[in-house]
This record gives sequence, structure tokens and C-alpha cells, in this order.
Amino acid sequence: MSKVKGFSKLSKQEKINWLIDNYFPNQPSAKNILLQYWNTDEQLQALHDGFIENTLSNFYLPYAVSPNFLIDGEYYTLPMVIEESSVVAASSKAAKFWAERGGFHTRVLGTKKIGHIHLIYKGKSQEIFDYFQTNKQLFKKAINPLQENMQKRGGGILSIDFVNQTDKLPGYYQIVMTFDTVDSMGANFINTVLEEFSEIFVENMPNELRQKTDIIMRILSNYTPECVVRAEVECPVEQLRTSNMSGKEYADKFIAAIKIAEAEPYRAVTHNKGIMNGVDAVVLATGNDFRAVEADVHAYASRNGQYTSLSHASVNNGIFRFWLELPLAIGTVGGLTALHPLAKFSLQLLKNPSAKGLMRIIASAGLAQNFAAINALITDGIQQGHMKMHLNNLLKLLNANPSEIALAKSYFANKKVNFNELKRLLNRK
Ligand code: MEV
Repeated sequence: MSKVKGFSKLSKQEKINWLIDNYFPNQPSAKNILLQYWNTDEQLQALHDGFIENTLSNFYLPYAVSPNFLIDGEYYTLPMVIEESSVVAASSKAAKFWAERGGFHTRVLGTKKIGHIHLIYKGKSQEIFDYFQTNKQLFKKAINPLQENMQKRGGGILSIDFVNQTDKLPGYYQIVMTFDTVDSMGANFINTVLEEFSEIFVENMPNELRQKTDIIMRILSNYTPECVVRAEVECPVEQLRTSNMSGKEYADKFIAAIKIAEAEPYRAVTHNKGIMNGVDAVVLATGNDFRAVEADVHAYASRNGQYTSLSHASVNNGIFRFWLELPLAIGTVGGLTALHPLAKFSLQLLKNPSAKGLMRIIASAGLAQNFAAINALITDGIQQGHMKMHLNNLLKLLNANPSEIALAKSYFANKKVNFNELKRLLNRK
């Protein structure tokens, strides 16, 4: 295998050839695996190639929809991009269940985002504080043109503060800026403002201060504990009755499952992963940054020093309530939301929501998924639903014909699916 020079400058074909020559020398057909995913529409392919660097092909994920989400009195069909079987079925089932009980009620608790200029100052605190304070208005004025468009849309810079962080690290200070980025996720806006602000901050410094100042980095924080949405469902306890549990028994067991996730980080991680099955699927379908959302949500789940459940439940006066709070820094304009045709389609399907609207929808998707998971866990277990999907996949793998499919489905109707047993049943080797 050789070291490659100037790889990014090669054409797509040349990159593929290099890859096949070096990593698949005895398998030239491996090239076709990449080529078969190219879109025949060259313009569309070029669009996707342009999203990132060194693009060779496309990696498909299924795009599904989950209907019957009644959110704040309006019905939605949610777009979901996810590779895991059962998630969409579970989402749709939970949405229908709650639509019959008043649906999801949501509230955006805040939309504030935050960014920092991290710097080291090797002088007296008072000097740098005085410099910041004396010149703050000048800095603000200089930065103003950058936020004109954002201000027209109703957002902009909310606050600018100089913060002493020397108890965390010697010489460490921050310029902390908070923002309202309205319908955009805001990363570009925030980072541009921070970079420009730091230039102005340093340029105007007297020499003796500048010599003691080292700007380390200027970057938004993906932790957004003040950009948070809440989603909730509720119903009388008796409406939770199942074929073999009273409403009270069901509610008690459900709440016990939640309390375990609140108390035990091992369970909390899996519990929250179930929430993220719904959240990420809609985040991806709408072209949003799922890594940012994941990092944010899990930091939020640990905000009190121990990783815990994002959702909670209670019963008061015979009413069962189930809710979650999620920090969500997402956008409905800019970034991929405007460029990816399927992301645009998803947003249109969701009636072109504002960022706040999309926060409400995503939180409902997360709560529905969490409800479906806990419901399965405290009743039949999750394998039953999974196994049905698993059987379908195995039948596809074995190229089963319709009568074999019917035979296998009735054979495994009340039985754990086992691949060897299936093969025996269908006379496969
Ligand atoms: C599987 O993707 C998600 C679950 O494990 C979530 C949970 O346990 O709550 C079912």
C-alpha cells in the first residue's frame, strides 16, 4: 500500500481507481459497489458530491414516514431517516395511541445559543476587565453590520460579557456571547461574529495588553441548555389499561421504569438512546446536524453531575403525565436544509415549520419513541416486535416465495425466530 500525495486533487474516477488498486487488488468488481449507488441524474449526483470532500459514492439510508402525530392540535406526518427496523412502526403506533388521547403538547422554553472567545491573559485581571468594559460599546458598534440581516429576521446578539475563568485554568478568560439565531441553526453566524469580534478586541488593545493576550479559539458551543423544548402527553390512568394490566398497574410499572432510568446511568443511556431513535431520525430527514444534537442532549442529561433520564412521568389526581425536555439547536433555513432536495421535501411535509416549530415536532418524535420502547419493555419485551422485522429480513435473505413467507409467519407467530429453524422449515441448506 502506498502513501498518496494530492489525493483531493484527483478526479472521482482516479480516486476510486487508487482505492481499488490499493485496497481491493484482487477484487476489481468492488468498484461496482461504489458505482451502483451513483445517481443517474448527473446534476443531482454533482450536488451530493459537493456536500463533502473526496466523495466517491452515496450511502443510502431508508427514508420513511410516521403518520398520525397530533402535536398542539395539528396533525403531522413525520419524515424519518433511520436504518434500525421497528423504530418507525413503534413511532407510528405511539403517535396513534396518543392522538386518541389528546396528542402531544409542547412548549419551547428558550432559544438562546452561546459562543465563546477563549483566551489566555498573562496579566492582572483588572487590566483586561477594564479594557473590555471601557471599549465594549465600540466593539458592539463595530460588530453591528454583521448582525443586520439576523436582526431583520428578529434575532441577533443578545449579550456580550467578559468572564474570569482562572479558577478553571491559570490565565483563562472568556468573552461569552449569546445569540438568537431565529430559524437558522446559527453555527456560521455565531462563528463569524466571534471571529470578527476577537479581531476588533485585539486590534484596539494598547501594546502592553496585546503582548499578554493570546486568543486561543473562537467557536460556538454545541451545549445549549437555554435552547430547550418540552413535550408532554397525558391521559386518565384508566386509559392505559391493557388486556392483562389495569390502568393503575400499567402506570405504576411505567413510572417505575422511568425512575430506574432517572436513578441508574446504565439504564439512562439506553433509555435516552430510545429517545434519540426518534429525535435523530427527524433531525437527519430535515438535514440538521445530528452530531451537534447528540452532543448537546447527552451533556444536558448530565447537567446535574450524573447522567440521567431525559424523560419523566407522574400520576396526580388520576392523571398520568409523561414528558421530556430536550436542548435542540436545529434550523429550518440555511445549511443542508436548503440544499438537499429530500431535506427540503421533509420540511415541506412538516408544513415548513419555524425552528421553534421543528423543535416541538422533534421533541414529540422523541417522546413517542420513548413511550413505545417503555411500553414494549414493561409488557411483551422488545424482541417480539424486533423479531417480526427480523423474520422479514431473513425471508428476504432466503429469497422466500409467497407461500413460504406465509408458512414461516404462521410457524413463528408465537415462537422465537431462529435462522436455523427457518432454514429447516423452508428446506434450505
Ligand atoms: C433500541 O434501539 C432502543 C431501546 O433499547 C430503548 C430502551 O431500552 O428504552 C428499546
